[in-house]
Formats: sequence, C-alpha cells, structure tokens
Amino acid sequence: MEEKINALRAELEADRASVHNKEELSAFWQKYLSKNGSVTGLTKSLRDVPKEDRPAAGKLINACKVWAEEQYQALSDEIDAAELAARNKAEAIDITLPAVRRPVGSLHPITLVKNQIVDIFAGMGFDVFDGPEIEDDDHNFTRLNVPKNHPARDMQDTFYVAPDIELRTQTSGGQIRVMDQQKPPIKVLSPGRVFRSDSDATHSPMFHQMEGLVVDRGITLCDLQGMLDKFVQAMFGPEVKTRLRPSYFPFTEPSVEVDVFCFECGGKGCPLCKHSGWIEVLGAGMVHQNVLRNCGIDPEVYSGFAFGIGIERIAMLKYGINNIGLMFENDLRFLKQFQD
Ligand code: PHE
Repeated sequence: MEEKINALRAELEADRASVHNKEELSAFWQKYLSKNGSVTGLTKSLRDVPKEDRPAAGKLINACKVWAEEQYQALSDEIDAAELAARNKAEAIDITLPAVRRPVGSLHPITLVKNQIVDIFAGMGFDVFDGPEIEDDDHNFTRLNVPKNHPARDMQDTFYVAPDIELRTQTSGGQIRVMDQQKPPIKVLSPGRVFRSDSDATHSPMFHQMEGLVVDRGITLCDLQGMLDKFVQAMFGPEVKTRLRPSYFPFTEPSVEVDVFCFECGGKGCPLCKHSGWIEVLGAGMVHQNVLRNCGIDPEVYSGFAFGIGIERIAMLKYGINNIGLMFENDLRFLKQFQD
C-alpha cells in the first residue's frame, strides 16, 4: 500500500506542474479527488489489505487524502491569484494621461459686477427689489417729478411700447414701487435692465443699472457720501476717494454726480480719467420732497437719498473694457476672460 501511495503522490506532483488554468484544475480534481478519483479510490483498495495491516494503511491513506486536498487548494489559490493579476494588468488605466477637458461656463462680467455690488450693499443692510422692465409712464417719469412735457424727458430717449407704457429708461421707478409698498426705514437696491434709444462706444440701447434708495429720519448727503465711499473702496480699492459734483436730476434735490479718484493713475492724469484725475461713476442725490409726497411719505419727518449706478460703466472701469458693445456680442474669447 505504501508503495502504491508513493507512486500516486509522485504522479500527482508531476501532474501538478501542468495545471495552469481553471479547466486543467478541474481535470486534476476529477483525476484524483472526485468520487472516481485515484486518491478517493485508495479507500476502496483497503479491502485487499490484510486485516491486521488495515489501521496503519488507513492512516497512510488519510494522510495522502489530506495532502492531495492541500495540493488542490494551493493550486486553486495560485490560479485565482494569476487570473486576478492578469485582469488587473489588462484593465490598468494610466492615470497620468491628461483627461478630456469639459468646458466650464463662467459668469458674465455684468453679472459678476452686479453680484459684487449687491454683496457690498447687502453688508450694509440693503434688501433687493426687482421692478418690471416694461413700466408705465407714472412710475418711470411722472411720480418721479418728471411731468408730461417736462424738458428733462429729453435726457432719456424713450422706447414706447404703447401710449404711456414704455421700456423703463431707468431703475428709478423702483423707488416709487418700493415707497408705495414700504414705509421708512427703507434701504433697498433695485438692479435691472434699462433701455434708451442711444448707441455708441460707451452707450448701448440696453444696459443695466443698480438703483439704491435709503429713506429714514435724519438722512443727509453725508450718509450718501459715506456709503458711496465704502462702496467704491470695496469695488476699486481701499485708497479710492469720492468727489461730489453738483448736477441735476428731477427726482433728487440737491443732485450730484459722483466721481472717484482715478485708481489707474492716482490722480496724475491718464487716458482712463481723460487727464482730469477723476472718473464719473454714478448719479445720486437727496430724494426730492415731491417724490416722497407722491408716495405718501411726509418730507417734514423723513428724508432720503437715492443713487443710480451704471453696471456696465463699473465693469468697464474695473476690467479695463473700452467698448460697451463687447459686453453684448457674447464672443467666447471675450467672456472667457472673466473667471472671477
Ligand atoms: N436715474 C438716473 C439716471 O438714469 C440716475 C439716478 C438715480 C440719479 C437715482 C439720482 C438718483 O441717470
């Protein structure tokens, strides 16, 4: 029996070397370990062993069985490992290859500047009001102290949609809408598109404004300048100063144009400030008493200021854009420069 077992072990060992994949492993199992396999068959041949030798032979047979199973298990593990390694190799990805780039959109410079302005004033406690782009004559002009046939209507070339209905020429109508809905204290911003029949390198028939309105007891021109200082410093840099120049708007009294100290040349004079050292950035003033009255607010008790910022103008200054038309052509080469 011992001889027989040794011969079987030798045969199995020799076969083992030629098992390289799952099919060969299965054949190997069939040959040795299945019901009809030769290792399993050893138990049957125990019958032919004399009775007194059977316990010893049985032990040998068992040991051989355990060994053969170990061989099978080891082979099976080796084949699994080899298959996994082959698969990993075949499916390997070179992560150093450059990826396919997906283009990422970016905000339009007008949206960027609008968001920045809203952020700055929101920090001072302003709410945002959204007024209609198609406005009636009452809100756009009449209740803003610009009666019919008032010469100031010529300041803004109006697109009419119907008699007394127009594309708003300014966001100032928002002042009336806010004061109709809300009583002081009022602190509101109203951004939006406005329309005027006007077109050249610095004017577009459609552009954007940001209206600001503050109404409360004891509001003065100093409050206006203080807030605008904070605004221009946040927008253009901490050193920037403002200057108020007398101006005229029918809905403010007094009215001012606000200039900023030229941040490009530091006041020495350059093409940006047209060699004056100052750049005009917005119109503003104290809300006209007639406008407060038109909204049922007593000018003896309350006062307020309003301002209107041209968003394109701020974007052009901030980003050094010299033609307003660029902002509406939507040329990707232009737009891609604003990833802010
Ligand atoms: N609405 C004015 C304009 O469009 C700007 C402005 C707003 C002036 C508020 C004073 C107060 O020119």
